[in-house]
Amino acid sequence: MNPTLQPDAATSVATAMLCTLSWQYEHENTQLTRLHELAKAGSWNASTDIPWVAWSRHREFPCSRSSNPLCGFGFYEALPEDRQRELSWWQHGLEISEILHGEQAALQVSAQLVQLLPDMQAKFLCAVQVHDEARHVEFFARYLRDTVGVIHPPSDAMRELIHRALQEPAWEHKLLYCQVLIESLALARLQELRRHCRAPALRHAVDYILKDEARHVHFGTEHLRRHIARMDPHARDNCSLRLLDATLALAGSLNIYTRIATAQGWPLPAMRRHLREYRLQHPDLNRNRFRQLALNMQAVGLLTPACKAQFDSLNLLG
Ligand SMILES: [Fe+2]
Ligand SMILES: [Fe+2]
Repeated sequence: MNPTLQPDAATSVATAMLCTLSWQYEHENTQLTRLHELAKAGSWNASTDIPWVAWSRHREFPCSRSSNPLCGFGFYEALPEDRQRELSWWQHGLEISEILHGEQAALQVSAQLVQLLPDMQAKFLCAVQVHDEARHVEFFARYLRDTVGVIHPPSDAMRELIHRALQEPAWEHKLLYCQVLIESLALARLQELRRHCRAPALRHAVDYILKDEARHVHFGTEHLRRHIARMDPHARDNCSLRLLDATLALAGSLNIYTRIATAQGWPLPAMRRHLREYRLQHPDLNRNRFRQLALNMQAVGLLTPACKAQFDSLNLLG
């Protein structure tokens, strides 16, 4: 398999963004000072701190069998074990590639935030985050290349979200897209991966990455909480609805099984029926995936009754 991203190896996104200089060097928020100290002390090296032991995709499955929603689906069960293993790696590659592109989004947006944020202490936090995200991109790209054997292009929904976050002129919306939406969903997905993935390099790196992401989300929610508390109700509702809109667009792309069924020539209605049954048997799946996001929206004051009703109507919180 060719590990190179095709067909577009790079994309330029036109942005119009202010650069804000700050002449205030005193720091008032002790929470952010503490986070900055933790960030500086928590650096790790994706080349030397990760056990890059060989992990054969020709002998091993990427994750435990019980965690794969395809298990119990007749068409999947009918495949011989080597085809099931091959398909599981393809499925794993799709999921990890989407995480990799999300990491690049966080890298690019946090770099913009260094320039845009008016507060020097917040610039410091974002500057350290740029370094963290570069390391996450480095790790996932190497894991995909060396262990999985392929890097898939981003889904349309992920590509759209990255463009939206990069082109957004207001820093509060960039923080919402990056530190609240993308990173809350990533935290939930990484926690799932940590429970079920088997490759030592991935298990080890996810422990480091989870700590970094928790710090980024903490920074975003702490910084936004104060800002959003001062907004008028109309502006607050606008933030909440835009975040919900982006969440719903991205939630669709999290379902890779339509892609798998299409590629395998499996009937889509049968796949959808199986996944519905799987979700009924695993009610904690959606709840865990979106609970972190809902908690963080609540922490910044954006889980409005209208927004909560939308989450409930789509059964996103289980
Ligand atoms: Fe990250
Ligand atoms: Fe992050």
